[in-house]
Amino acid sequence: MVKVDVKGCASFVDAARYESYVNKALEAFDVLESEKGAGNDFLGWKHLPGETPEELLAGCEAVCDSWKKLGVDLVVAIGIGGSYLGAKCAIEALSHNFAKQLKKKDAPEVVFAGNNLSEEYLAELMDLAEERNVACIVISKSGTTTEPAVAFRIVKQFIEDRYGKAEAAVRIVAITDAKKGALKTLSTQEGYRTFVVPDNVGGRFSVLTPVGILPIMAGGFDVRGIIAGALEAEKALAVRNASNPAVVYAAMRNLLYSNGKAVEILVNYNPKLQYLAEWWKQLYGESEGKDGKGIFPASVNNTADLHSMGQFIQEGARVMFETVLHVEKSQREVVIGSDEQNLDQLNFLAGKHVEHCNHMAELGTRLAHIDGGVPQIEVSVPVLDAFNLGSLFYFFEFACGVSAYTLGVNPFNQPGVEAYKKNMFALLEKPGYEAATAALRERL
Ligand code: PA5
Repeated sequence: MVKVDVKGCASFVDAARYESYVNKALEAFDVLESEKGAGNDFLGWKHLPGETPEELLAGCEAVCDSWKKLGVDLVVAIGIGGSYLGAKCAIEALSHNFAKQLKKKDAPEVVFAGNNLSEEYLAELMDLAEERNVACIVISKSGTTTEPAVAFRIVKQFIEDRYGKAEAAVRIVAITDAKKGALKTLSTQEGYRTFVVPDNVGGRFSVLTPVGILPIMAGGFDVRGIIAGALEAEKALAVRNASNPAVVYAAMRNLLYSNGKAVEILVNYNPKLQYLAEWWKQLYGESEGKDGKGIFPASVNNTADLHSMGQFIQEGARVMFETVLHVEKSQREVVIGSDEQNLDQLNFLAGKHVEHCNHMAELGTRLAHIDGGVPQIEVSVPVLDAFNLGSLFYFFEFACGVSAYTLGVNPFNQPGVEAYKKNMFALLEKPGYEAATAALRERL
């Protein structure tokens, strides 16, 4: 199970104030558990781990089997934000670092699109598609988001041109709203298999819906393990007490924020966790950054970033705290050998595991950063596998709800995301935006 340790904050906070923040977080916990707080029509994620229907998993397995029969070796998963980051995070966290080069798996490779509007990216994706046997998962809860819609138009055309319209309906699967949106209309018309994003689950909380499940399963990863880990976290975090890890995390980060620490850096020491940070940034950034409030979520990938961001974190503006993702044990072993000449002067490490060096780097950095004025929270799991990844997903989601209610904002809306869309549509001269187009042009 996920553990949270806040000893690395002790020298920065007053014990009595911490206690008062734990009480605030417990009140927020009650609001979340009562399911009567702001945004309470978006709480479907809370029960997903225990309520994932077997038919959903069987339906996703049937899709994967049908693609296997066609020899599919490339799945293009199209989506943005919450319709992208959970699956990307899981696939990065659970993949062999060199899976592509080793061609180790018989499952298809999953690549992502629709998360940018780069023409080069799409052109190069098409270069890859030309060489491969292609299927596509198009994901949009609203069914109207521009970036995935543009990517899908191009990939759909490619699939239809190459395989014909009838086979395209087997190769393309849509994940969207049950009733509304352009993607729903299009899927019905084209006869695509579809999966539903539940109404009561917002994008950034949707990794355990088909939004995450199908792409992760298509890549051959252990979805059932992820769900089992999330379920264990759901049970553990439902216990109301001051040592509940979600309460501890929510209390401490809100207390640090009240002390002027307005930036939280999620730190990892394993490149496979880079996209967990990207997923976490969306989860906390969109859930808390509103009403002029919120902790700015940032991330570093260590030890690499100690050689780029380390200087700032050690001695720059004292505005941040760090939350370190600690993985207790590596699943692979590499022991450093001894060298007779010792020209590199590394014999003092002979016989030691590389992971031991990694842990000492982590520990040394944490102590140095405490000395530099950067409080340290530790979030730890025993190993990085499907089960513990599932626990981390649920832990961060649940803690996000508690933390945002502690801060006094609605965790489940994102009104600010619309502003850029209006301007983009106006600048692209979308019908209906004429007045906005003229107003923006005046400003240029
Ligand atoms: O968390 C959210 O709701 C957003 O980030 C959405 O996931 C994102 O904007 C994509 O939306 P949609 O799935 O409707 O295309």
